[in-house]
Amino acid sequence: MSRGMHGRRGVVNVDRKLDKDVLKRLLKFTLKNNKIQLFIVIIAISISSVVSVISSLFMKTLIDDYITPLTLQSNPNYAPLKQALSIMFMIYIFGIFFNFLYQKILIKVSNGTLRKIRDDSFEHMQTLPIKYFDTNPHGEIMSVYTNDIDTLRQLLSQSIPSLFSSIITLTSIFISMVTLSIPLTLVSLFMVGIMNLALQWIMKKSKKYYIAQQSNLGKENGYIEEMMEGVKVVKVFNYEEEAINNFEKLNDNLFHSSFNANKYSTILMPIMGNLGNISYVLSAAIGGYLAIKLNSLTIGTLASFLTLNKSFTMPISQISQQFNSVIMAMAGAERIFKLLDEESEINDGKVVLVNVKDVNGQLVECEQCTNVWAWKHPDHDGKERLVLLKGDVRFHDVTFGYVPEKVVLKNINLYAEPGQKLAFVGATGAGKTTITNLINRFYDIQEGSITYDGIDVKLINKNDLRRSLGIVLQDTNLFSGTIKENIMYAKHDASDDEVLNAAKLANAHGFIMQLEHGYDTIISSDGSPLSQGQKQLLSIARAALANSPVLILDEATSSIDSRTEKIVQEGMDKLMSGRTTFVIAHRLSTIKNSNVIMVLDNGEIIERGDHQSLLKEKGTYYKLYTGLLEND
Ligand SMILES: Nc1ncnc2c1ncn2[C@@H]1O[C@H](COP(=O)(O)OP(=O)(O)OP(=O)(O)O)[C@@H](O)[C@H]1O
Ligand SMILES: [Mg+2]
Repeated sequence: MSRGMHGRRGVVNVDRKLDKDVLKRLLKFTLKNNKIQLFIVIIAISISSVVSVISSLFMKTLIDDYITPLTLQSNPNYAPLKQALSIMFMIYIFGIFFNFLYQKILIKVSNGTLRKIRDDSFEHMQTLPIKYFDTNPHGEIMSVYTNDIDTLRQLLSQSIPSLFSSIITLTSIFISMVTLSIPLTLVSLFMVGIMNLALQWIMKKSKKYYIAQQSNLGKENGYIEEMMEGVKVVKVFNYEEEAINNFEKLNDNLFHSSFNANKYSTILMPIMGNLGNISYVLSAAIGGYLAIKLNSLTIGTLASFLTLNKSFTMPISQISQQFNSVIMAMAGAERIFKLLDEESEINDGKVVLVNVKDVNGQLVECEQCTNVWAWKHPDHDGKERLVLLKGDVRFHDVTFGYVPEKVVLKNINLYAEPGQKLAFVGATGAGKTTITNLINRFYDIQEGSITYDGIDVKLINKNDLRRSLGIVLQDTNLFSGTIKENIMYAKHDASDDEVLNAAKLANAHGFIMQLEHGYDTIISSDGSPLSQGQKQLLSIARAALANSPVLILDEATSSIDSRTEKIVQEGMDKLMSGRTTFVIAHRLSTIKNSNVIMVLDNGEIIERGDHQSLLKEKGTYYKLYTGLLEND
């Protein structure tokens, strides 16, 4: 899993034009909800940048117009100097205030944007088809929410603002420098050119290591996750040593890449700093020469210029510091947008499920829950037709494969009349679960059609279709929370009584009451501290609470002991009465009383009939039942 997952991370190519698009999109995203705030930020950054330039320029006025005249006076008057200094102080305060203001707004904007991206991603993820989760390792999807979104934090709160402020500062400093002295400006520009070359060189060197670092980090995370999930298998097969060795290899790679990435980026600052110092010294020497020898420069101008020179090289170092976070953020943003661009499950069915009541033999839609349901069917003439929900499910020549190359179900024809109990039996991998996956449209069929109360399931709104089906899945899935909350997944507004009745029906009530905290017992997402059978009982209780007209039970009682099974069976029989039920069971005793039993083999129905007639046929079912054939 980790290979597929992080291989893609490794090939993120920062040189692509795509980066520009990703950045544009990201900015658009940030702008969308924060236009006013960002406008204030731009103004505040501009003000604080300009203020810092002004204060450098003020140095010239201070020396040339205030301090130098003072030295010539025999009886110096300090009042104008004091005034000038207090003006300067005010300007500083002004600058600090705007600096503080934009930092504060930015923290809110950037964190708000991250929150919005997380919200949007999760919301979008809920709309994705099952196929997406089949084909993408879950670790990779997870890492979008953790690693990838987090790479944006620094980009939004530091890199982009500092880039912007640097551009403003650079422009205003440049203009001021030109007004002070053109020859010295040329000297500074020359040094900036050299700094730029150094920056390019280091960026080129470390870029690939930064990307590798991200990818290796992902691989390592994936491996840790897998080893934790499989901790029991690791222990059973004494795989610890091998696991440690594999981990060390991954960790070595991570070390290598982050060492190299940081090696280059840490020499960046000293190089930039020293080049900046050289620029300062050069300007001072040449400026001194111009001032003293040629007298073409005042001391105040030189002092101002030197301060500007320092401020000129600083933003360049600042930009260079941000480049690694930009690279990482681009890789992260690309993966976030990939998730957001993933196509949602299409849900354009117009037929919806509504509550109805019978008024003089006529179905009438009503708001309140009547427990009688109907499909509301828009007709061509604009009128709506109500079809009573009965639970009549039919397959007509259905052929399906999860991937086009491999057909899993071939030409399946079946019909389940309302209230009937249909059972599927057959070897592992025969396609039993697949049939149920098609009824609720987890996947769409390639050929044939499935009808539900005479309506093609493709026309039914998926949410309503699934609402009408109570399903106990083959893998019991529980969520961290209380037992009660877990049952209530089927109906989030259920009353305590409803939950209790559902649990009683599923025969889960007994064991729940034996737990110390009863229905309020907290369970973890892997269901601990419950046993496998108890978990199954909970998922049956869940289906019972859903109270849907059609039930699908996939191996619902496979982990329950025979005695409990009998009791559960009674409960389930109650649950099933009057409902169309699809049952899949390996234990044939549970399906003996089904109206129709279908024997699946390799995606085809090879026998059908009730228990007695199938036994008489002496075919596969007979062999399965009498134990002449291994059933898995
Ligand atoms: N998500 C999937 N993607 C691709 N192929 C799948 C997927 N799920 C199942 N298959 C394949 O479809 C075939 C039928 O699987 P299915 O789960 O329907 O079997 P089953 O009859 O329920 O078996 P079991 O008794 O073990 O539960 C198998 O060959 C399996 O490899
Ligand atoms: Mg199955």
